[in-house]
Amino acid sequence: MLFLKIPLLAVLLATGDNEDAFQEEISFKMIHSSSFYNNSWVKIQNSAWLGDLQTHGWDTNSGKIIFLYPWSKGNLSKEEIKDLEEFFRGFSIVMPQVIHRYASQWKFKYPFEIQITMGCELHPGGAIGSFYRFAYQGSELLHTQNNSLFPSPNGGTRAQDVYRLFNQNHANKKIVQKILSDTCPRLLLSILDAGKADLQRQVKPEAWLSIGSNPGPGRQMLVCHVSGLHPKPIWVKWMRGEHVQLGTQQSDILPNADGTWYLQVFLEVEATETSGLYCRVRHSSLGGQDILLYLKLPHNSMGWIILAVMVPLVLLTALAFCLRKRW
Ligand SMILES: *[C@@H]1O[C@H](CO)[C@@H](O)[C@H](O)[C@H]1NC(C)=O
Ligand SMILES: *[C@@H]1O[C@H](CO)[C@@H](O)[C@H](O)[C@H]1NC(C)=O
Ligand SMILES: *[C@@H]1O[C@H](CO)[C@@H](O)[C@H](O)[C@H]1NC(C)=O
Repeated sequence: MLFLKIPLLAVLLATGDNEDAFQEEISFKMIHSSSFYNNSWVKIQNSAWLGDLQTHGWDTNSGKIIFLYPWSKGNLSKEEIKDLEEFFRGFSIVMPQVIHRYASQWKFKYPFEIQITMGCELHPGGAIGSFYRFAYQGSELLHTQNNSLFPSPNGGTRAQDVYRLFNQNHANKKIVQKILSDTCPRLLLSILDAGKADLQRQVKPEAWLSIGSNPGPGRQMLVCHVSGLHPKPIWVKWMRGEHVQLGTQQSDILPNADGTWYLQVFLEVEATETSGLYCRVRHSSLGGQDILLYLKLPHNSMGWIILAVMVPLVLLTALAFCLRKRW
């Protein structure tokens, strides 16, 4: 068992995807997106995320932030929350008007999509950086360097034009700078602290096996499902004995509605080479007790073989017995 753990650990470290929320960088980001259908119609969405977890929503009608968890407010004062709501109302009302006005000058063609992402990230050493990205149709026009906004190098003249307008609006520029350098880092640190119990909760996954769609003649797709885990980092492999099967492939880790995670791990094998295969699940919630699931194929041909051998054998023995009695 001990020597089994060492290669496992080595693989765990090598895969590099076991980011622990508090050991790797974690970001808090506010996302604004607006879909401009035509020159009089726009759909607005705002939300905020701590890593992969949505922490805030936005009520378009009232222009108010929706706090999705009791700790989503962090330790921001009522004033600061009001200021943020004011800022996002600007995003949702004033900015679309400005963009409608400049759309033809900037060569924005309806329908189009504007996405703004702004936030901050805490690095493992404790340093906090910030970011802001403005994108038109998925290509970045503005970004931050060193807490200041610049036109993106690949944005062309369009980026220069958008930047010029942004740069003229001193009041707005100041607010963005304050949010990036002050409000966001404080909110990030205080919700990490206030939400600790939820963010660091450990939920054990359930795991089960299935046979996937037939990948080809004589071959079989084995699927190991793992669901309901939290936090997200997990190690799941198809193994035989102590050996990880090299063909093991993993799906994305997708969110369940309750904030836990789900993934599938696949292995394609020759149908005749399934014996001894098992799926191994290792997760922080399991306290070192990995889940091991051995493959039991639904129509076990072994049963029929045993039956086919045993029945004639029993009959023959009975016959021999009878014959001997007669003699
Ligand atoms: C703009 O798009 C909306 C939604 O598709 C539509 O209902 C509206 O009639 C359009 N307006 C114009 C002026 O084209
Ligand atoms: C970033 O800002 C700091 C402080 O304002 C400055 O000293 C530094 O030179 C800047 N770095 C770059 C790459 O602009
Ligand atoms: C809010 O939390 C941050 C980070 O934990 C801290 O630095 C700051 O002093 C707190 N502010 C108040 C008003 O409690």
